Amino acid sequence: MDRLWTFSAGADGPWRIDDVRAVTGAPLPGAPRLDRIAGEAPGAGLWSLRGITSNERYVTRDEKQALAAATPALGRAQAVCAVLIPIRKSAAWWALAQDERRAVIEDQSQHIALGLRALPAVARRLHHCRDLSPDEPFDFLTWFEFAPEHAPAFDDLLARLRASPEWAYVERECEVRARLDLGPEN
Ligand code: HEM
Repeated sequence: MDRLWTFSAGADGPWRIDDVRAVTGAPLPGAPRLDRIAGEAPGAGLWSLRGITSNERYVTRDEKQALAAATPALGRAQAVCAVLIPIRKSAAWWALAQDERRAVIEDQSQHIALGLRALPAVARRLHHCRDLSPDEPFDFLTWFEFAPEHAPAFDDLLARLRASPEWAYVERECEVRARLDLGPEN
């Protein structure tokens, strides 16, 4: 399985971008289309972001099993809505110890419990950027796919996460909303 992924925004790609907005910090430029490309895609598009999928850091055995049982695959035919949310956390976050970060994520913020409620409607993929180079603009690229009827549940989850103690450590966050648009020839 490919671990390195490039999100490329520009003229090409199956996802038609509806909206690019800055939630916190500097914005990303608008672009017409988005592609999620396996591997390195140098110079692609108006902007591109890369990240690697990795092992989990914080889940307990029970959570790992619950996630595995409920997590759908990417690329489902009905999941024509996608959201890319690049996130950068603060130096204060990275200065915490592993057990302290777990306490913020779950004991204080219920990130995993809230997230589990959105499964299997929402398919998700977490990409890590931090260890790729010292210059990556974000720490994480989060990617979500769902059917249009599940957009309200996704928005509700977003609002709850953004109001949680974990998000006090988010110093940059953008939101790219897109729709699958394979064109007339497909
Ligand atoms: C759709 C339901 C969701 C589920 C089931 C879910 C679940 C999880 C889990 C289990 C982790 C921890 C992974 C680990 O152990 O390393 C995690 C991390 C993360 N999630 Fe979610 N999540 C969901 C939605 C979201 C949303 C909507 C966002 C963005 C607004 C988000 C942003 C993140 C980020 C940035 C991390 C990495 C945190 C860190 O390592 O500091 N998640 N998520």
